[in-house]
Amino acid sequence: MNIHALLVNRFTEALQEMGVENAPVPVSRSARPEFGEYQFNGAMALAKQLKQKPRDIAEKIVETVKLDDIASKLEVAGPGFINVHLNDEWLSNQCELSLTDPRLGIAKSKEQNIVVDYSSPNLAKEMHVGHLRTTIIGDAVVKVLEFLGHNVIRQNHMGDWGTQFGMLLAHLSDKLQDEVAETALSDLEDFYREAKVRFDEEEGFADRAREYVVKLQGGDAQCLALWEKFIDVSIAHSEEVYDKLNVSLTRKDIMGESAYNEDLANVISDLREKGIAVEDQGAQVVFIPELADKEGNPAVYIVQKSGGGYLYATTDLAAMRYRSGKLNADRTLILTDARQALHFKQTEIVGRKAGFMKEEQTYEHCPFGMMLGSDGKPFKTRTGGTVKLVELLDEAVERAGKLIAERDNDLSEDELKEVARKVGIGAVKYADLSKNRTTDYMFNWDSMLSFEGNTAPYLQYAYTRVKSLFRKAGVEMATMPVDINIAEKQEHALAVLLMQFEEVIGMVSREATPHVLCTYLYDVASAFMTFYEACPMLKDGIEPAIRDSRLALSALVAKTLEQGLTLLGIETLEKM
Ligand code: ARG
Repeated sequence: MNIHALLVNRFTEALQEMGVENAPVPVSRSARPEFGEYQFNGAMALAKQLKQKPRDIAEKIVETVKLDDIASKLEVAGPGFINVHLNDEWLSNQCELSLTDPRLGIAKSKEQNIVVDYSSPNLAKEMHVGHLRTTIIGDAVVKVLEFLGHNVIRQNHMGDWGTQFGMLLAHLSDKLQDEVAETALSDLEDFYREAKVRFDEEEGFADRAREYVVKLQGGDAQCLALWEKFIDVSIAHSEEVYDKLNVSLTRKDIMGESAYNEDLANVISDLREKGIAVEDQGAQVVFIPELADKEGNPAVYIVQKSGGGYLYATTDLAAMRYRSGKLNADRTLILTDARQALHFKQTEIVGRKAGFMKEEQTYEHCPFGMMLGSDGKPFKTRTGGTVKLVELLDEAVERAGKLIAERDNDLSEDELKEVARKVGIGAVKYADLSKNRTTDYMFNWDSMLSFEGNTAPYLQYAYTRVKSLFRKAGVEMATMPVDINIAEKQEHALAVLLMQFEEVIGMVSREATPHVLCTYLYDVASAFMTFYEACPMLKDGIEPAIRDSRLALSALVAKTLEQGLTLLGIETLEKM
């Protein structure tokens, strides 16, 4: 059920009946419950066109619009707002329909091909916190889009190519004299550091590294085999993180930079033929007047270095063309940190000029801020090193385990372990997902593991509350009577929220903003707690019909929380 869309339809029909065509139909949520739940704010803008006072127009719309089934009351307020108060009977019916539908009454969208480029770590190094946000947020966005019926194509644009691999392969080839790749590469950070030291200090090593780059790019079989070994072990490191994080990426989603290698020369010749790229000091560059500086100098976008080498940008242009032409992407979403915003803006301008994508296809860079430590500086280990994701996740589980064990619980040893894993991982993911992605956020163990506030443990706990309510009532959710009768104001508030799920999912799918869903689930859980206090279910003397209605509403709460958390990639528990 999409109340917003329904209201827009009804108001559009009313305006048409009044002879107004093509006017905007602004419907929004009301700011306060006394103004009802939704508001139509279009009357003011029509005053000129209709030569009438906004309030008179609003009155006329109220007379014309057909909302008897949905609204209990329509009132004209202020300069000409129309407040819509939803009707309890209608809400009750809608809740029943949602409860009996496995999709909770959420319609599928018109199917689109949507490429989501996320995670995309650099394989030369260990996956670090910088890749946590893209991985978690990207996976939630993917799940929401798939739930809406889209054909989502995950693209893990891994950094698996480039000059630094020369140094790494030269070092690896030496190490393999007496070690297997898995051991030599068991710690990629150390490995990288060793190779770098040799590159900077050891005589002859830098030259060998350069030779390796040339051989690799020339397709030398031995060199490629060595490279594949390196990549394979490094991917396995990422997979360990994906696995712990319960993220849906697999090997078949990998389309790394190397995959575009063959096409880079074509990209350059295409750009040159079209007169888009020109030679400048030996390099191939594109001047972008749209992004000129204050003095009017166009931005310079390099697509090939003077020595002939290709860049990150060249690969992204090739990727754009592949996604547009081969994958037929209606939308392309790319999740990286905000520091890359300019790069993607430039890439889009250049790519569109070159005709690398069709006009109607979108190219959406979804930027996010940095993860900061509690000192407000980029998140680092105590000694200033990069924090390894695997270790961070293990610590989360350990901390969650301690917290749960301290709480009153009747969990067995095994259950406790499972709860600790779900809560610990859930907490890390949710802390990230619940913040507006565009801002920096502070990583803080205590707040993310708290059982109060907008956290994973709070939501997971709210879910178990409903579950235990059903256990106490001795009622099976799957077979319970579904007869809902909203009467109390807490029930009304809860039901309205429950009916807004589809609107929220729609927002997340349009803007790639999972925090909207987090806030929503938090609101649902809080409204449930308020309802639970005010509307008893298990007390003696409660009429069976009232009890059943309230239980049914609670069941819809549980299903909504479960569905929402699942879309966010966070696991639920039966008890904790
Ligand atoms: N590997 C890059 C990084 O770690 C992110 C790649 C994002 N995707 C892209 N198409 N450029 O910063």
